[in-house]
Amino acid sequence: MGGYGVSLVGHCHPKIVSAIKEQCERLIACHGSLYNDKRAELLEKLVEIAPRGLSKVFLCNSGAEAVECAIKVAVKYTGKSEIISMVRGFHGKTIGALSATWSQKYRDPFKSLLNPNFKFVPFGRLDKVEEALTENVAAIIVEPIQGEGGVYVAPNGFLEGLRKICDEKNIVLIFDEVQTGFGRTGKMWASEHWGVTPDIMCIGKAMGGGLPIGATLAREDVMNVLKVGEHTSTFGGNPLACAAASAVIDVIIEERLVERAWNLGNKFKTMLQRLVEESRILREVRGLGLMLGLETRVDIYDILMKALGKGVILLYSGRNVIRFLPPLVIELEQIERVIQVLREVLLEEKKKLLISNSGCR
Ligand SMILES: Cc1ncc(COP(=O)(O)O)c(C=O)c1O
Repeated sequence: MGGYGVSLVGHCHPKIVSAIKEQCERLIACHGSLYNDKRAELLEKLVEIAPRGLSKVFLCNSGAEAVECAIKVAVKYTGKSEIISMVRGFHGKTIGALSATWSQKYRDPFKSLLNPNFKFVPFGRLDKVEEALTENVAAIIVEPIQGEGGVYVAPNGFLEGLRKICDEKNIVLIFDEVQTGFGRTGKMWASEHWGVTPDIMCIGKAMGGGLPIGATLAREDVMNVLKVGEHTSTFGGNPLACAAASAVIDVIIEERLVERAWNLGNKFKTMLQRLVEESRILREVRGLGLMLGLETRVDIYDILMKALGKGVILLYSGRNVIRFLPPLVIELEQIERVIQVLREVLLEEKKKLLISNSGCR
């Protein structure tokens, strides 16, 4: 589960702990209207590793806030007001982010508050995106790999096609890399798998090593539409969270975690693939690097509970996808242990199914 993807560098990495300790003895809070050295240090490192051209950064405290900023910037930059989002897309639960989120479970109770200018198209279908285009579309928002929606990887050509459409129609392309960012998928940013650069990128989750921090990165001309004070956050960019995030970037680079995610992810995927071949309960494995999904033919509740009993905390994506977001510092032996537990649990599930199908109790 990896803390829903937050614990990318594990829990209490000594470098993160010491960065936080050191900073909290110097200065914990400092409003964004004043200069702070730790914020400057983080911004420099972030822009260094960011996709080329995304050199302006808004710092906030969560993924949803990063999305809110992206939406406002896109609308102001283009002077248009419709947003195209994806079926199964997830972007957070604040009102703007929820308007871009597909799941009815999250939307229904707050339907009356949601923005009707958000339209949903099937993920991966350029023809449907074309159909949804109007003169008034400001932005297209998409996760390169859908996380909450069930670990669906963008089919080749999709993000490239979106880039082309956005360039032709003066539409802002927003990639939500809150879950996929910081090396999780075997590239620093998932968009690199397709060589496509967005106009705006949203990040969060793993960024602070466990402390709340998120960011919206944009092209300078795009972000510059915001006037001073037009979009702010009291705690956004506080020195404590910045010190932690700065140390997270150092650890990712020093410990070559991006490469590690790719190599271990491939091994993990192969092992999961083998499980699929062994068990008829399983349908398929999806994902890249250490962001993997295992789709089953059964409801996974019992599988999750049984694995928990054996010491493995698994994460779901809906009723039939087990999502793997382990720390990138995970050891191969730990992955093997997860596979062993899964194998045991799946065997128990299969026996249960056989008994219930034969009418026995
Ligand atoms: C792709 C994506 N965007 C946005 C969010 C929202 O982030 P937060 O929960 O920090 O608001 C999430 C959280 O799971 C996410 O996976």
